[in-house]
Amino acid sequence: MSILNLNDSALLKTQSYINGQWLDASSGDSFAVTDPATGEIIARVADLGASETQQAIAAADQALAAWKNKTAKERSQLLRAWYDLMIEHQEDLAAIMTAEQGKVISESRGEVLYGASFVEWFAEEAKRVYGDVIPHTTHNRRSLVIKQGVGVVAAVTPWNFPNAMITRKAAPALAAGCTMVLKPAAETPLSALALAELADRAGIPAGVFNVVVGTNAVAIGGELTASPIVKKFTFTGSTPVGKLLMKQCADTVKRTSMELGGNAPVLVFDDADLDKAVDGVIAAKYRNAGQTCICANRIFVQDSIAEAFTQRLTEKVNQFVLGNGFDGATTIGPLITEKAAANVHSLVEDARSKGANIHTGGNIDGQGDCFYQPTVLSNLNSEMRISREEIFGPVAPIFTFATEEQAIAMANDTEFGLASYVFTKDMSRIWRVSEAIEYGMVGVNEVAISSEVIPFGGVKESGQGREGSKYGLEDYLEVKYICMGDI
Ligand code: SIN
Repeated sequence: MSILNLNDSALLKTQSYINGQWLDASSGDSFAVTDPATGEIIARVADLGASETQQAIAAADQALAAWKNKTAKERSQLLRAWYDLMIEHQEDLAAIMTAEQGKVISESRGEVLYGASFVEWFAEEAKRVYGDVIPHTTHNRRSLVIKQGVGVVAAVTPWNFPNAMITRKAAPALAAGCTMVLKPAAETPLSALALAELADRAGIPAGVFNVVVGTNAVAIGGELTASPIVKKFTFTGSTPVGKLLMKQCADTVKRTSMELGGNAPVLVFDDADLDKAVDGVIAAKYRNAGQTCICANRIFVQDSIAEAFTQRLTEKVNQFVLGNGFDGATTIGPLITEKAAANVHSLVEDARSKGANIHTGGNIDGQGDCFYQPTVLSNLNSEMRISREEIFGPVAPIFTFATEEQAIAMANDTEFGLASYVFTKDMSRIWRVSEAIEYGMVGVNEVAISSEVIPFGGVKESGQGREGSKYGLEDYLEVKYICMGDI
């Protein structure tokens, strides 16, 4: 199947979407979007920059008054219409995603549902933005709290979830009465533009949701962070880039939400159900070929079960079929770029040169330079880069520990704090470890922790703010206190 075989070919857009219009770059420039599995060019997309970003910010600003003055129910109905269209076009959205991102088509179908679930959830939550009446302390006064959208929001989203990372930001923003300028990753703009086309068809008014596509992230990000019109900046991506963007936002004291890097530990204790732990690590490590911020990055296994665990994990990893995501037999796809695969390989080579055992994989695959073999490593130590750096590829590094205290210390020995996972049957330990580990999210005997109803986010240098759930809506709301006197 090719992206050219979409059921609805109008979903393949190559221009940016600003103020309800499809626009080329004023420079006339364009760039190629390629399929990481084949290297083929899927489409050439208009390459916008600073001036068009200003245009998009102005459009979002102009659209703000009418959008925020709609009733919550009106906004809710428009979001619901957007959701319905995503579900109707699930197959095309999934095909676009696999073509530009490489993930296996079943995972793309799943991501479209995941992405749509945020729109459905926040369509409902839009109607539940309640304020407070504060019990008064003075007889002739009453104190009230109302919640209002923050205003124009800028969002920069990554390539690893080309649909869901957009809706996880856009849906609460629009529900809260904010308008948005989105800059999606240049590797995966087609999914974002297809979402814009569906927003347009849903009747979301011009200027409410704008998508600016371009390769000059510095110029576009510079405009979005510097503009005094933009009141909130939300980013999903790496910690170094997040820090830079936060600094840029400081000049206009913007609110920021940052979903940054992870270094997720998995703690497998000797009382765990070993098969469940192995299956959990398979799911948490190899989802999206290891390219998620919550992928298992360091697997800590108690000494006494380490050998059995490593053997069973390796057996399962050997069952993966690496290939083109459109191929029905494929269970793991390519990485996003050749550079990404080379980075993963340099981590493996560093570990190998310092004494790591490679149980399976360990190389770029013969199928192409973006394909990395599903890999299992053991005999690792803290001198190896893989013990500290986010792998973002299908490599499972197994470390060992002796005691619970040691496992907690090893898990916390990182500047990151996004997701973590614990496998044990001991209820007291579940509480002790969950409370002691410094992470925004803890999966206990469970790795499928993400959904629209939970607060996704991290602590330490993994970011700030939460996405999804009622907490995710709060991130797009200001609290206003009203004091009524002379009562
Ligand atoms: C991410 O990798 O940032 C998102 C993962 C998820 O939503 O499950």
